[in-house]
Amino acid sequence: MNSKLKLFTGKANRPLAEEVARFAGVPLADIDLFKFANDESFVKINDNVRGADVFVIQPTCRPVNDNLMDLLIMIDALKRASAQRINCVIPYYAYARSDKKDQPRVPITAKLVADLLTVAGADRIITVDLHAEQIQGFFNIPVDHLYSIPTFARYLLSMEIEDPVVISPDSGGANRARALAKRLNCGLAIGDKRRTGNDDQTVLLNIIGDVCGKTAILFDDIIDTGGSLVKIADVLKDYEVKKIYAACTHGVLSGAAVKNIEKSAIEKLFVTNTIPLPEAAANCPKIVQLSIAEMLAIAIKKIHIEESLSILFK
Ligand code: R5P
Repeated sequence: MNSKLKLFTGKANRPLAEEVARFAGVPLADIDLFKFANDESFVKINDNVRGADVFVIQPTCRPVNDNLMDLLIMIDALKRASAQRINCVIPYYAYARSDKKDQPRVPITAKLVADLLTVAGADRIITVDLHAEQIQGFFNIPVDHLYSIPTFARYLLSMEIEDPVVISPDSGGANRARALAKRLNCGLAIGDKRRTGNDDQTVLLNIIGDVCGKTAILFDDIIDTGGSLVKIADVLKDYEVKKIYAACTHGVLSGAAVKNIEKSAIEKLFVTNTIPLPEAAANCPKIVQLSIAEMLAIAIKKIHIEESLSILFK
């Protein structure tokens, strides 16, 4: 694109945005984002964006609805300020688990959010490890779907783990776990996890695959309450595994998740910085955060000059 690249951030993850800006060599543009006393959000863009190729970094992490609304009004302000193209960098896409009508009278909120972003004026979405690949199809604008797998694989390979096996906590994550296992050149196992209601509760019935005597690497897109990982770690004790590591792209870490991880048999939990770590997690020696900032910076620069992103998938 011939137009100027402009990088903005909302309040959702400023440290990530600053790191991306450093890697991209582009300063964060000037924007005021605040709430009135009546709780309504307001945005004022202080840089000229007329004809610019704008990238807005804003994961929709906690406070989810505020961060989503801030993103929508930033898009609206940029559109009305005549930005040429508005690219939304949403490393963590909230509501992604509400992606199908699998019970009577429930919403498909992931699709609703896609519609809201598009109607607001987004021209492109750049995101990381969507809960389900098919969420890309909820958009009628381009979605560049990036993966944390190269980042985790580089780190795990550097650990020279003995006899690793990658385990997906459920069948839904099997393809993702298979891709990591391929990079680590090791086997794959799958947990038979079932949800028991709409309240974060799950049961783990079985582990399918050869895990006995190996080092387990649990791999999931999201760690929220930690229930899925802690349950599988408990069951793995019966399989005489050497050690248990866990890697999850999005460290939502709600409620007692950090305490539960601390008490569990999981040696280390690796998460990325799509979401800022809650304080308890940042102080937990078991939790290690890996950065995806460079990957996002490369994606932004390549999208701006209209080059292929395939180098990021190698
Ligand atoms: C569900 O299908 C996801 O991939 C994760 O396994 C799940 O969201 C993790 O949630 P929690 O940590 O609350 O078990």
